[in-house]
Amino acid sequence: MPSASPLSEEIDGIKRMEDAGASAVVLYSLFEEQLRQERLELHHHMESGTFSFPEALTYFPEPEEYRLGPEEYLKHIAAAKKAVRIPIIASINAGMNNGSSLVGGWTQYAKLIQQAGADALELNIYYIPTNMTLPGGEIEHTYENILKAVKAEVKIPVAVKLSPFFTNFANLARRMNDAGADGLVCQPVLPAGH
Ligand SMILES: Cc1cc2nc3c(=O)[nH]c(=O)nc-3n(C[C@H](O)[C@H](O)[C@H](O)COP(=O)(O)O)c2cc1C
Repeated sequence: MPSASPLSEEIDGIKRMEDAGASAVVLYSLFEEQLRQERLELHHHMESGTFSFPEALTYFPEPEEYRLGPEEYLKHIAAAKKAVRIPIIASINAGMNNGSSLVGGWTQYAKLIQQAGADALELNIYYIPTNMTLPGGEIEHTYENILKAVKAEVKIPVAVKLSPFFTNFANLARRMNDAGADGLVCQPVLPAGH
């Protein structure tokens, strides 16, 4: 099952993946920064750090490279559903640097994605810490809250894509399970230079 990547930006690419034997396709992500105007501020924080968040930075687009907006993304889901028979899994990639107010954004778009016909939804949650007073446990708790909020709003299966950089990954995985995750998508630790 091909994971989120630019291969799914064109309907033809999705068809080719189906023809090549894919049993489902995860669409490239709708980036939360496309939904909000905070992206430049976040971009600043990301660029001013080192490569300490490789799981995000290796594919995080430059602001000028943002792909389709929310409306187009929903149309893309519908078009993909018409074009192929395999399940189409949409993906939201969103940070939570604005705290709890963000949960509303996740649930709103999750519902629209379900309405557009997606068979499932993958949440790629990330947090880029810029506040040194915030303990890691609280950040992990927000992951649970986002998942629970989305699960309460949609009927389609919801998977969570997690980076490998948690102090106790198995604990977080179990909590995601308990919070209602229908699947976990694990990312590899990339070798240096990847
Ligand atoms: C060019 C490129 C674009 C990607 N775009 C996304 C994306 O939009 N959303 C997402 O969640 N992951 C994205 N990813 C991450 C992949 O889905 C995958 O998790 C990552 O590449 C690790 O898997 P791999 O070792 O098989 O490459 C992207 C990766 C690459 C290389």
